[in-house]
Amino acid sequence: MCGIIGYVGTKQALPILLEGLKRLEYRGYDSAGVALVGDDAIRITKSAGRISVLEQILKHDDQAVTGIAHTRWATHGAPNDINAHPHTDQSGRFAVVHNGIIENHYTLRTYLQNEGVTFKSDTDTEVLGQLIALLYDGDLEETVRKALHEVRGTYGIAVVCRDEPGVIVAAKRGSPLLVGIGKGEYIVASDASAILAHTSQVVYLEDDEMVCVSANGIRTTTLEDIPVTKKIQEIEWTLDQIELGGHEHFMIKEIHEQGAALKTCMRGRIDPEKGTIHLGGIADVARELTRAKRIILTACGTAWHAGLVGEYLMEELARIPCEVEYASEFRYRNPIIEDGTVVIAISQSGETADTLAALEEAKQRGALALGVVNVVGSSIARTTDAGIYLHVGPEIGVASTKAFSGQVVVLSMLACYLGRRRHMSQPGAEQFLTALERIPEQVTTILEQNDACRKVAETYVDRDNWLYLGRGYQYPVALEGALKLKEISYIHAEGLPAAEMKHGPIALITDDMPVVFIATRGSQYEKIISNIEEVRSRGGRVIAIATEGDHHISQLAESVIYIPDTLEPLQPILTVIPLQLIAYHAALLRGCNVDKPRNLAKSVTVE
Ligand code: G6P
Repeated sequence: MCGIIGYVGTKQALPILLEGLKRLEYRGYDSAGVALVGDDAIRITKSAGRISVLEQILKHDDQAVTGIAHTRWATHGAPNDINAHPHTDQSGRFAVVHNGIIENHYTLRTYLQNEGVTFKSDTDTEVLGQLIALLYDGDLEETVRKALHEVRGTYGIAVVCRDEPGVIVAAKRGSPLLVGIGKGEYIVASDASAILAHTSQVVYLEDDEMVCVSANGIRTTTLEDIPVTKKIQEIEWTLDQIELGGHEHFMIKEIHEQGAALKTCMRGRIDPEKGTIHLGGIADVARELTRAKRIILTACGTAWHAGLVGEYLMEELARIPCEVEYASEFRYRNPIIEDGTVVIAISQSGETADTLAALEEAKQRGALALGVVNVVGSSIARTTDAGIYLHVGPEIGVASTKAFSGQVVVLSMLACYLGRRRHMSQPGAEQFLTALERIPEQVTTILEQNDACRKVAETYVDRDNWLYLGRGYQYPVALEGALKLKEISYIHAEGLPAAEMKHGPIALITDDMPVVFIATRGSQYEKIISNIEEVRSRGGRVIAIATEGDHHISQLAESVIYIPDTLEPLQPILTVIPLQLIAYHAALLRGCNVDKPRNLAKSVTVE
């Protein structure tokens, strides 16, 4: 969703801001803008559409060493030029960029209008700029502090003032914000990827903290003006991890990275020979966790699908009752949290607003709150009592791929860790971990079937409705396969437990309907073969994801993609790969923008 970048230093700000905006593009946006603080005026350029549109109207020789910029994903007001950020007050003395939602914007707008203020945009953000102007007393930092005391809602903001060139004041509540520390230069951003080209030294702001940034340094305080000493941290990611590196799209790059990424995810954590698992991030809570009476996994989107696999894993391997909740439902449902309940939030970005709120709700009710997160230092990671990082590297493609497989690997390790501490035998753990250790190499061999996956996409790409069916561990994979297809190719697809087909969706099956069966060898193999027969007898076009060596299935399906054999609980990590590839090729064939699908955001930071 929205992205912020701000620069203070000695270099020309504009190229740095523009490059930062491009690095933020992956988050999803519909308009963009820049404010440069000149000697006697703030110069704003903004427009609806892509950053390339903004670049066409910008004066590239505009000299300024301070500026702020923004990518907007519309919430209040249409995605047009006027509603794009930065927003100014009516005199143009202040400019503001803002991520989040000012919930009492209507009341503040009415108050300001009664004070004679005229508004230009429909946004909640403009209220901030106008309010700051009304309260300004010659000290930008103090005025922003005062203004924020009047505001309800969430924000990451950066503010500049014509009268104080060389200064950015930034503040955070519920929306990420960090400051990159360079040599005589500072970059405020909502996302580490925007600053990585300049520095890897960073300070993360906490909620209700503010920072005043100038070329002389940064001063961090709370909203109550209590000074805060911040630790400078090192961003783990490298620049080449957030660049295409010769690939056509981030999605295909990240699909291909999965083997190596999963290896990193497991590195130093599993010892198949001894049947042991080391998860340093949860060591402090291991005792409480092992005694858990119930586990609730909460997440959104693809992470929720990983959670569904986790439910099967926790129950089968750890023998702990487990349920999976949409974070958006959990947070408002008055959930029952008893002694011994552990809530685990799963999130790639660590910033999804609903997942964060669900976690906070669980903590407030006394649950042990854990996280399975990719982005180190993210809001969810900082809110948890303990957690396990994915370590799969940055995920830039909007359609989540390597994060899903990483989440399932982490949940597999966690389930085995708990199982081993409760009832699982050492040989049982050894067998499980030996199979897990082989997964990265097996993932890489599946990628060799790229052409077969493209062929499936070519054959059925003109069909507007697809079904994905699986049973047991493969049911969540069916949901994930359908989600991938609809996200990036805009083909309508539904994922279902295969047995549920008879309770309604079977009515949809005609000889025009592609039906993807995840039909690997396992406890429900014969059942799913019966479901395939049911679809065939109604003329459906069967595509099967099957286990290597299963020749029977090739007589039933029009297309088969084979995956190597592994233990049933680990199969989802393999079966999802061909579904990612099929979706990718279908999107390309339909001419869709794979990395920037319409209306979607990589990180959904509003409700
Ligand atoms: C958005 C993304 C999805 C992602 C979901 C949860 O909808 O487009 O790809 O699965 O958010 O994101 P998270 O960062 O919490 O895993």
